[in-house]
Amino acid sequence: MHLFFTLVFISIVGHTATNNVDNSICIRSSSNWCQSYQTAKACGVLDQCKNYVWNYDNDRINFSLYYETLCPDCRQFIQTRKIKIQNFDDSIRYDKLCFIEVWNSYQAVLSIVNITFIPYGNAKELFRPETGLWQFYCQHGSSECLGNVIHACTIYFYPDIQQHLPFIYCTESTEGDVQEVAEECAKKSSVDIDKINACTHSKLGNGLEHTYALMTEALTPQHTFVPWVTINGEHTAEIQQAAETDLIGLICKTYKGSNIPDECKKR
Ligand SMILES: *[C@@H]1O[C@H](CO)[C@@H](O)[C@H](O)[C@H]1NC(C)=O
Ligand SMILES: *[C@@H]1O[C@H](CO)[C@@H](O)[C@H](O)[C@H]1NC(C)=O
Repeated sequence: MHLFFTLVFISIVGHTATNNVDNSICIRSSSNWCQSYQTAKACGVLDQCKNYVWNYDNDRINFSLYYETLCPDCRQFIQTRKIKIQNFDDSIRYDKLCFIEVWNSYQAVLSIVNITFIPYGNAKELFRPETGLWQFYCQHGSSECLGNVIHACTIYFYPDIQQHLPFIYCTESTEGDVQEVAEECAKKSSVDIDKINACTHSKLGNGLEHTYALMTEALTPQHTFVPWVTINGEHTAEIQQAAETDLIGLICKTYKGSNIPDECKKR
């Protein structure tokens, strides 16, 4: 830990504030530096937090989303966070949050959760010896297969959730031709579309998608619908229900570590 704070101190001293996050938190207390991605970035200690604090957190929960790119319920799951609203007659309704709110609430808990996207869902695959490639058959047709491989390639080239989540979010919330949507979303989320295009039509992309097929087939219990979620490798009806209603709340509730983010304290 000593080494960590020494390193952090060096980079704090050499850091020039370039963004609009309140930097006074950096000066006030070092204990807050790795509290969230935004704070770490604002204080110039992102790498140190990643290497010395977040990775050491064995309590970080694993959340996995098994989905396919064109299924309406998957899109709905990825693009909205529902919030509970009490009506005047005491009945409960759920309202959707817009992207920036969804993004902010994810940001607020990313230090305690490891989110993994598995873009395969109800697809099937068959090995074709004549091409040496896997052929995929998708529930929503070949454009869904293309979308799945585009996601697989994006996750591969941009393994940091901070990089691939905005792209996944954008593609899942935009209707239209899969290739055109990918190009549009790549621009918005600083993804190099040429790199992705080359991957989706290569052995690399084919192999990545095959890996997601294996991960999906290895589920116990087997998935019976999509989106299908697991927390620390476990799937139950309660977990699924909680994830669909309030994912952030579920993440907070499941986390047993000591690095509790403010977003969870509010709940
Ligand atoms: C999350 O997954 C990693 C790697 O598989 C594992 O080491 C870690 O213990 C898991 N976390 C929990 C809380 O199960
Ligand atoms: C995150 O989850 C993935 C997939 O379950 C796993 O391979 C990886 O080791 C996990 N990382 C951490 C830091 O737990």
